[in-house]
Amino acid sequence: MSDFDFAGRVAIVTGGGTGIGKTYSQEFAKAGVRVVIADIAGPEGEAVAQEINDAGGKALAITTDISSQEQTLAMAKATIEAFGQIDILINNASLMSALERRPWHEIDVDEWDRVMAVNLRGMFLCCQAVYPQMKEQQSGKIINISSSRFWLGTPMRLHYSTSKAGVIGLTRSLAREVGDDNIAVNAITPGFTESETQLATSTADYLAISEERYKGRTFKRAQLPGDLVGTVMFLASDASNFITGQTINVDGGESMR
Ligand SMILES: NC(=O)c1ccc[n+]([C@@H]2O[C@H](COP(=O)([O-])OP(=O)(O)OC[C@H]3O[C@@H](n4cnc5c(N)ncnc54)[C@H](O)[C@@H]3O)[C@@H](O)[C@H]2O)c1
Repeated sequence: MSDFDFAGRVAIVTGGGTGIGKTYSQEFAKAGVRVVIADIAGPEGEAVAQEINDAGGKALAITTDISSQEQTLAMAKATIEAFGQIDILINNASLMSALERRPWHEIDVDEWDRVMAVNLRGMFLCCQAVYPQMKEQQSGKIINISSSRFWLGTPMRLHYSTSKAGVIGLTRSLAREVGDDNIAVNAITPGFTESETQLATSTADYLAISEERYKGRTFKRAQLPGDLVGTVMFLASDASNFITGQTINVDGGESMR
């Protein structure tokens, strides 16, 4: 099973301090990956890193606002200083649970711009920041987190849905540009996932509607953060070395592509 051997690998998980990103940080650390948690939520990132280190893993929290180029460059620099390499970038951070669900015509332009600045510019900046190191290594795995909204056209949070569609374009075009450096760029589209943050920010009415949605899934149950880990690990592992520019849908068979 050497294709799934992560020993010695280094991963940056953006937004790795809370929600689904926290699960990626914890599970990658358990698999032997040295994990850098790059989250704007500094104390939450520190707490996850501490927990991983206390359990015998290796993790470092770097408070990072991914929409700032200065901070993403500092994130990459600190990762190399601490661990000497960057093998995996999980572009998970986004503005999602922080956004109210509103009809599209009630979204103000400042909120629209902030969503694009974090969800798209931030992802672009994180890719740019790790690229010199991955190019030097002539290897790298970039995994971009999109959303099943891309396929379903889910209403409300139009800015968020638009940004997650942009993630697919970024993934495909970037994959072609970095193929010669042996860097893989892929995306996943998670369905509605009951992360702690999603649950905390969804009204009872919305959760009831979401439960109704489970009936449209092939696997009729709630999607949990752990349901996403295996696919992300596969894309980060040597087992997927000839896969790039692709989008894998992980939604319990709600839609089929
Ligand atoms: N939960 C779902 O139903 C669902 C469905 C599809 C896709 N997703 C995607 O999966 C990912 C994780 O989802 P989640 O439920 O944990 O979302 P979340 O909104 O709860 O968490 C996002 C994380 O990003 C961090 N973050 C926000 N702005 C940042 C910034 N400027 N710089 C650095 N970090 C920042 C937050 O602190 C948080 O840790 C997101 O990309 C989300 O869009 C989630």
